[in-house]
Amino acid sequence: MHVRLRETADNTPPPTRTHVRLRETADNTPPPTQTHVRLREGFGHTARMIVRRERPTDRPVILDVIRAAFRKDSGEPTEVGLTQKLFDDGYLPELSLVAVTDGQIVGYVIGTVGCIGDTEAIGIGPLAVLPEFQGRGVGQALMYALIGASEALHERVLALLGEPEYYSRFGFRAGSEVGVKSPDSAWGDYFQALQLTDGPVNGEFQYAKPFDEL
Ligand SMILES: CC(C)(COP(=O)(O)OP(=O)(O)OC[C@H]1O[C@@H](n2cnc3c(N)ncnc32)[C@H](O)[C@@H]1OP(=O)(O)O)[C@@H](O)C(=O)NCCC(=O)NCCS
Repeated sequence: MHVRLRETADNTPPPTRTHVRLRETADNTPPPTQTHVRLREGFGHTARMIVRRERPTDRPVILDVIRAAFRKDSGEPTEVGLTQKLFDDGYLPELSLVAVTDGQIVGYVIGTVGCIGDTEAIGIGPLAVLPEFQGRGVGQALMYALIGASEALHERVLALLGEPEYYSRFGFRAGSEVGVKSPDSAWGDYFQALQLTDGPVNGEFQYAKPFDEL
């Protein structure tokens, strides 16, 4: 798979192509996989980014990444506490992914267990990239890895609340267009869904419990 990655804004060379390799885990267990991404950052220097599953020791750094990405003027961003709760309720280890470059965690995404009626469906988010690494393809690599891992797990539907302009590039559409009703009608087209398997899906999406406590 090739992914088009963005250069930094300062010297604006054209976007380069990035090679992504999916590797088996060391003990030959089946997916989830690690995604290795080569980021070309200017001439002669190549940085490497890995998207891999979260490890328990990563958690303080993950929360720091979320804190930095969602930082507002003051106070702790809601997404930090939400993610801590999701680790206890709704958590799927295969869908808790970090992006790592030069040994540093620079991005994070989580997919948690929700439902549409009796059908399991995955709620995506928070998705967060450190401000200094934004706009360079990290979020995109995390999203593609999450979608791939969800397919490997035979998940049928992914849902999220976010910018249609950003998530449409991954195939997400307004929930109303694909038969997935929003848990809150006020969200309008910001509530989006992606169906991964054939067959009808119809009903209201329900997030994991921590989202109800927001
Ligand atoms: C939103 C976020 C996760 C995107 O990650 P990123 O690594 O900066 O994004 P990428 O480099 O993968 O972006 C790929 C493309 O999406 C675009 N894009 C990035 N953020 C966007 C946004 N909020 N709305 C619309 N387009 C966006 C980029 O301009 C780029 O477009 P191009 O390829 O056509 O030039 C990141 O900016 C972030 O952490 N923001 C703060 C937290 C947040 O808002 N999280 C999402 C909550 S739904």
